[in-house]
Amino acid sequence: MGARYKSQDWQEKMRVEIDVNNMFAEFIGEKHGIKVSEVDEMAKEVEKADFSIKKQYGEGKLGFIDLPDKQKEVVKEIEDFANKRRGDFDNFVILGIGGSALGSIALQTALKDSYHNLKNKDVLRIYVPDNIDPERFQSLLNILDLERTVFNVISKSGSTAETMSLFLIARKAVEEEVSSNNISRHFIATTSQNSGYLRIIARKEGFKMFYIPDNVGGRFSVLTPVGLIYAAFVGINIRELLAGASYMKKIASGTDIWQNPAYLNGVLQYLAYQKGKIMSVMMPYAHSLKDIADWYRQLWAESLGKEENRKGEIINVGPTPIKALGATDQHSQAQLYMEGPYDKVINFIEVEKFHTDLKIPDLYGDVKGVAYLRNKSLSDLINTEKKATELALSKRGRLNNTILIPEINAFTVGQLFYLFELQTALIGELFNIDAYNQPGVELGKKYTYGVFGREGYQKMKDEYYSRPEKKEKYIV
Ligand code: PA5
Repeated sequence: MGARYKSQDWQEKMRVEIDVNNMFAEFIGEKHGIKVSEVDEMAKEVEKADFSIKKQYGEGKLGFIDLPDKQKEVVKEIEDFANKRRGDFDNFVILGIGGSALGSIALQTALKDSYHNLKNKDVLRIYVPDNIDPERFQSLLNILDLERTVFNVISKSGSTAETMSLFLIARKAVEEEVSSNNISRHFIATTSQNSGYLRIIARKEGFKMFYIPDNVGGRFSVLTPVGLIYAAFVGINIRELLAGASYMKKIASGTDIWQNPAYLNGVLQYLAYQKGKIMSVMMPYAHSLKDIADWYRQLWAESLGKEENRKGEIINVGPTPIKALGATDQHSQAQLYMEGPYDKVINFIEVEKFHTDLKIPDLYGDVKGVAYLRNKSLSDLINTEKKATELALSKRGRLNNTILIPEINAFTVGQLFYLFELQTALIGELFNIDAYNQPGVELGKKYTYGVFGREGYQKMKDEYYSRPEKKEKYIV
């Protein structure tokens, strides 16, 4: 039997779509809604943006565009490696942060059981500490049998302090606890082929190495070995994942705004921003997509939050991305979204068919406040709540849209990744900013290097220690 993702029928059934009805004045009202003519007026801008994206791609930048269909050899190497080594381990630990962690976390939550790590003794347990909190990392080390653990150290730059410090601690722990002197089998290094210290260490140690293309930025790297190694180890079909991304790449390839979901939604988000809707809430109504919202938050914040445009003018631009989860956050955030300032776009994600469903039992028919739930299903309840929230928001003039997913699988998740990445690229062009750098996070890093005595950062150290003294009276 051929792989399902190769069947055109199945692909069409699994197509991810965006319903943008509630972004328009027709449904939301004139005061806040966008007019169709405003979208049409963006046609030239979008053509220009598309030209710029293609030009940068032609210059060898924007490598994320190649990932869906130009990684055949890498995919084979990852699969072979995972198939060969999976059985040697009970624990797979990712040491990485930001773009080197969030994609794998999103994949794990979306495509594996919520309680995967607790399922049974034979399962390969996954851990992504994703932070340098000493208590958290120590607790992880406490529960790991290091004889049966592999660490995938992921850092494109190969020098990120958080990742490298966890690696050094793990490296020492392995040396102390593992009986064999073959320490290298407990480490994989995923990094740049051409630069960085991780590469140097990994080569010296003989770690298995995978490479992150230099033209793919961290937050766009989930479909490189950064996410694929973990996915292959845990049994996610990485070919289906990439096929999904490739399918979306085809769907979203034209410049006609009304036919390209990434561009249509990108334009609407851009227009909404111009109307003061400066926050973008990602609110899936499926627990398994909650970390896609987290991944999206980083993608938007680092790509679109910029001080300068490409002309060097100060513009301090960028929608604030917010992650939320339906139905949970109906009991936390929804009040604000309904009645607070008109400064948000709510992006729902709705899943048509859950893999499993639960029928609510026919109990307590005599208790009116509960009886209405009898014989309904949980999937029906969660989707009805989503639709009800959507309507309530729309009635209050709150812009919202819905990404419709037939079911959650590697193919649809691959579509989502690519859709969001391309949409981000387009919005970056519309703002005329460089969506692929992150100068704002560099300064904080440099001060840390200075304080820690890293060579070449003496000036930062001096600046840090000559900072204005804090006043006691403001600490109460
Ligand atoms: O998107 C980005 O570029 C960042 O979030 C990086 O992924 C993050 O800082 C980690 O960098 P590195 O992979 O170089 O350790």
